[in-house]
Order: sequence, then C-alpha cells, then structure tokens
Amino acid sequence: MHNPVPVADKLRSDAPPRIDGARLLDRLDRLAEIGAGENGGVTRMGFSEADREARAHVARQAVEAGLTAAVDAGGNLLIRRPGGHHGSGRPPVLVGSHLDTVANGGRLDGAYGVIAALEVLQTLHEAGAETDHETIAVAFANEEGSLFPQPFWGSMVFAGRLDALPSEPEDYSGKPLREALARAGGDLSRLASATWAPGSLTAYLELHVEQGPVLERLDRTIGVVDSITGRTQLSVQVHGRAGHAGTTPMEGRRDPLVVAARLVDAVQALAREEKLCRVATVGRLDVRPNSPNTIPDLVRLDVDLRDSDPARLRAAERTVRETLATLARAGNVRVSVDAGVRTAPVQTDPAIRDAIAASATELGYAQLTLPSGAGHDAQIVADIGPVGMIFVPSVDGVSHVPAERTAPDDLVAGAEVLLRTVLKL
Ligand code: GLV
Ligand code: MN
Ligand code: MN
Ligand code: MN
Repeated sequence: MHNPVPVADKLRSDAPPRIDGARLLDRLDRLAEIGAGENGGVTRMGFSEADREARAHVARQAVEAGLTAAVDAGGNLLIRRPGGHHGSGRPPVLVGSHLDTVANGGRLDGAYGVIAALEVLQTLHEAGAETDHETIAVAFANEEGSLFPQPFWGSMVFAGRLDALPSEPEDYSGKPLREALARAGGDLSRLASATWAPGSLTAYLELHVEQGPVLERLDRTIGVVDSITGRTQLSVQVHGRAGHAGTTPMEGRRDPLVVAARLVDAVQALAREEKLCRVATVGRLDVRPNSPNTIPDLVRLDVDLRDSDPARLRAAERTVRETLATLARAGNVRVSVDAGVRTAPVQTDPAIRDAIAASATELGYAQLTLPSGAGHDAQIVADIGPVGMIFVPSVDGVSHVPAERTAPDDLVAGAEVLLRTVLKL
C-alpha cells in the first residue's frame, strides 16, 4: 500500500537545514566570559590559561552535541562528526578560525568563526545530512601571536610550513612554547604529524567579522572576501648603554629609547607620507629596565607592515632596515632585526567565492565583494588548498578592542551563509 509523505514533512526534509541562531548567540556570550576583563574586553592570548580553558569549553560543547573533538600536535582543535566519513570520497571541507585573542581584544575576532563552524557541524549532524565530503571544524592555535610571537602558529603547522617556524619558540618573556603546547594537548616534537598535504582539502572556509567599516557603511550583510592582505612583521632590538637619568651628561649618551622613538615615527610615515605600503604600525614596545630615572639599555619593538603587493612589502621592509641603520649610527646604538612572519597576500578561490555569493543571494542577504586588511589563517591554509572567507559587518568598523561588536542578526546571517556554502561545495 502506498503511504503518501505528508506535504509538511516533505518540505521539511527537502529544505536545507538552518542554523539555530539563538544557540549560536548564546554560545558566543558564554565563550566571551572566558578571559573577560572589567571593561568588556577579552584576553585569551594563545596558549595562556584562558585560551586553554576556551578550547576545552568548545571541545566539551562539541562532545555534548554528539561530535568528536581532538587536539593535534600543533595544538589545533579539530571537531568531527562521529561514524567516520560522511562523504563520497572527496577530501574534507574544513571550516573554522581561532579562539585566541589579542590583549584586551574583542569577543568576536576568531571566536565567531569557530562557534559558527561548530554550529554548522552540529546542524548537519542533527539533520543527519549526507554531504559529498566530510566537514571538519577547526580552531587554529595562536593565530594572533600575542603572547608567543608566532602568529598563525597552528595554521602554519597544519599547512606544513614547519621550516618557517622557530625550532624552540618562546613567549615574549622567554618561556618555552614546548611546555605551553603540551599543556594544551600538543607536542612540539611531533609537529609533522599535524601537517596536511597539498590537495588534502576540498576547501577551507573561514567566517569572520570584517574588523573594518566597509560593509556597515554600504549597508551590506555579507562580505565575499576576494583577497587577504600580505604582512611583514619585524622584531627590532635596539641596544644602548644604561645610565643614571640625573647624572649622565646628554653628551655621549647611547639611549636606545630615543632611537626607537624615531623609528616609530619613521614607520608610520612610511605608509602615511611615503605611501610605500598600505599601513605600517608599531604596536608593541618593551623597554628594559623601564624605570623612570634610568636610561634604558635595551628596547624591543615590533613593526607590522601590510600591503596587497609583495614587492611593495619588500621595499617597505628595506626602507625600515635602512632607516634603522641610519638612526642607529646617529644615536650610537647597536641594532638587530629579526623577520617574524612574512605572510604573502592571497586570492581566495573563485569557485568558493561564487558559492558564498550564491548562498547569500538565496538567503536574501545584500552582499559585497571586498578585500581583507587583516590577516587570517585562511591565507596560510591557501598553501595546501582552495580557501574562501565570509565577512559580516563590524559595528563602527572596530576590532582588536573591547568595543568590537556585530549585530546579532548579522551574526546569524553569516552562519547561515557558511552552512549553505558548505552544502554547495
Ligand atoms: C592577524 O591576526 C592580524 O593582525 O591581522
Ligand atoms: Mn585578530
Ligand atoms: Mn581573527
Ligand atoms: Mn587576525
């Protein structure tokens, strides 16, 4: 006997699954409590205790949702659907971002992309959805490099860029990464076990807050990222001669802080006046001994240069090095420069861009194609597979500050587009 399927049920089963928006927003609220400061900011620097707590928290939520959670040797948290492979033999689609933050940063940078990835996986799991490929959620370790100055640590391990990483990394105070990584479930001696080969992913998708003003100004809900900025980080040391602030004559002083101050000014002028690169920043300065009545003996500062053109980045770096050498001669101090991470600009994959754009259109969201001025794990993963990024608007365009916010409806919209895109790939 023929049993017709009730129309309502049929509609339900044919309709693509949808994100549980309330659950997504609640999870973001709860995650923001880990590392919360008094001023509304969040501090979860990579491999700190708060970072570990956040990663354990998200892993627990995954397991409670019936998913599996594991940490690779690089400290990346990988969340999967149980029961082996959901897919027809194509390589997995990886979806995620990072859970670590800058010092006193916002609640969404990175965290949003990870929680949305968890929601996508849980939604697929609850719907019993069969996809052409396995979908895996990831929280890459230490994207920001705020405590251990190796930004993109986890994605660099994942993409097999082990040669570009220091062999015994340390944090800014000299504490070894080896121990912090072990506490987080990783293993510095086995990093190679965490690398994925070129061609091993169908796609990597990262959903992120824009961190800039463009989508808000143009009143678009979804950003389709076409390129991610290149970045060169230089770690500069200026060695001078310490002395008493009251008794050391001005004549003959070798004051590293004076040289550093001149360099700070020269770095911003490089972008603002000379237009050698798009933006140039000194965001961190260490003064030793940092005492009000002592001429310092050592100043360390980090220079951050960004541009979409690698040749311009190289020229800007050359200028920083030449300027520093000139300033050092004039100030009679000794300087050294270590290149931190040099991250190449990347283009996102055109087919993934199309899938994101089509998903946004189907869901009725206004969209815009735009570049990313911030760095993202996606530009590292691009070494081994096609990548795509989805942006949602940032209120007032601010990020890396406690005021970082995105309207709740936009947060849900971005996750819906992420889910729809995963189903299209
Ligand atoms: C990377 O996190 C950046 O600062 O853009
Ligand atoms: Mn950031
Ligand atoms: Mn980020
Ligand atoms: Mn970033």
